[in-house]
Amino acid sequence: MRIASLVFLGGLLFSFYSCHQPEAGVNATATAAVAPHTERYRPYFHFSPEKNWMNDPNGLVYYDGEYHLFYQYNPFGNQWGHMSWGHAVSPDLVHWDHLPVALVEEDGIMIFSGSAVVDEGNKSGLCPDPGKDCMVAVYTSHIEDSIQHQSLAYSSDAGRTWEKYRGNPVLDLAKKDFRDPKVFWHPQSDRWIMVVALPREYKVQFYASGNLVDWQFLSEFGGEGNTEKIWECPDLFPIEITTPEGSLTKWVLIVSAGGPQPGYAGVQYFVGTFDGQTFQPDQEFIAPKWVDYGKDFYAAVTYNHIPNHRILMGWANNWAYAADIPTNGWRGSMAVPRELSLQPDPEGSFMLRQQPVSNLAGLRQESHRFRDVEINNRQITLDSLSGLSLEMHLQFKPLDAEEFGLRLFHGKHQTAIFYRTQDEQLIFDRTRSGDVAFNTAFPGADTVSVKLEDGFLNLKVLIDQSIIEVFVQNGKYTLVNRVFPEPDTKLAWYALEGSIMIPKAQVWKLRSPWH
Ligand code: FRU
Repeated sequence: MRIASLVFLGGLLFSFYSCHQPEAGVNATATAAVAPHTERYRPYFHFSPEKNWMNDPNGLVYYDGEYHLFYQYNPFGNQWGHMSWGHAVSPDLVHWDHLPVALVEEDGIMIFSGSAVVDEGNKSGLCPDPGKDCMVAVYTSHIEDSIQHQSLAYSSDAGRTWEKYRGNPVLDLAKKDFRDPKVFWHPQSDRWIMVVALPREYKVQFYASGNLVDWQFLSEFGGEGNTEKIWECPDLFPIEITTPEGSLTKWVLIVSAGGPQPGYAGVQYFVGTFDGQTFQPDQEFIAPKWVDYGKDFYAAVTYNHIPNHRILMGWANNWAYAADIPTNGWRGSMAVPRELSLQPDPEGSFMLRQQPVSNLAGLRQESHRFRDVEINNRQITLDSLSGLSLEMHLQFKPLDAEEFGLRLFHGKHQTAIFYRTQDEQLIFDRTRSGDVAFNTAFPGADTVSVKLEDGFLNLKVLIDQSIIEVFVQNGKYTLVNRVFPEPDTKLAWYALEGSIMIPKAQVWKLRSPWH
């Protein structure tokens, strides 16, 4: 979101809510009695807050058998404002328990995005108990129209209760835009590293600390890749790659900025090396690499402290219309957490491969299999498949069709996901997907260039009430998009101007993890 409009919106909301709502910090709990899967558009297996506004994932950390999800949250309404950290925990990244709000706005200081780490044995001495693990949140302390600096809060009870550090802020450049610190442990140099954004300068800075309180400037990186929109929510992490010649480690720098769909925000990434001091991209800049090609994937960051896995979570929304999406009493959801790996790319570097977390398979119910379906210039409606939460694995082999694909939520409206063989484009078209009128920036079609592999197009599609995620060619490309369809709709597949084969396809109904 443009910070000017964010500030304007924030100002408006602040004046509205300060007249009509209790002060932030008073009874700010997120616990509610309503089962969170019964309302219209409420996703089953995508995380959403029980009520009120949510944006970025924050403080993603795994500790003692629990995945923590903190998130940008307004405890007092379903528009952006009073930013605080909402909180949920999960044993498996699929089933979530809502917990009370963790960090609340106080004294006019909002809690903007940031990260969380576990300081094993409380070496920083931030928590009161010597020797007992200490969870530390590093967040941007935001004073509207004035300043952003980095601050700490700590918890010695696995994130259930938090104290803000008395010496806050711990990192202050006296700048209006300086935010979204991601802190992680760097064992090679035996210290904490922070990557943090200077949004309007289109760069990130790296800092180091032995105690999470005193931060030393290391270096900066920026001005490359996409600089169409401000830079926010950076993350830096290593991924190990196993090749026939042995294994090597590459570092991935993620930055939310402009996106692959012109005019809309998205998430870009750079692959390179990090020596504990400087990030060096592998290549001279060619073109931005995109994490996701849909419009609803932003502010994505990864989990800290998960051994041998790198899990990414993004906010399934776009600032262009986020405030207007037609949900009632709650607004915002997360995309399904993704497992990341790297694979060689054609330019001699590496590209991300992404898969939904494997635990999602635990929600599969009835399965429908299809074999060797030939479709010649027509549409086939899959009458046996109803429901709005499904997982589909599909293999398409175009014979001579010019276009083929899926029509989801098909009835009066439809969401089309299709491939155009001539120009090798995969297209996600939500122009006629249901309720699209709430904001003129919402309807439209997203495209991504995709090559067939051995003549096949492989799609994994997650459909969940009002969110669709597409994983293309085994996670080489992904697209997340919200849609707001009629409740009673069908699925169909089709081919135009020729035929295709579907050698195999499997579709599962997915149950709600909330039942
Ligand atoms: C990204 C962002 C962050 C900021 C937060 C405020 O979506 O603008 O840069 O910390 O949202 O809610």
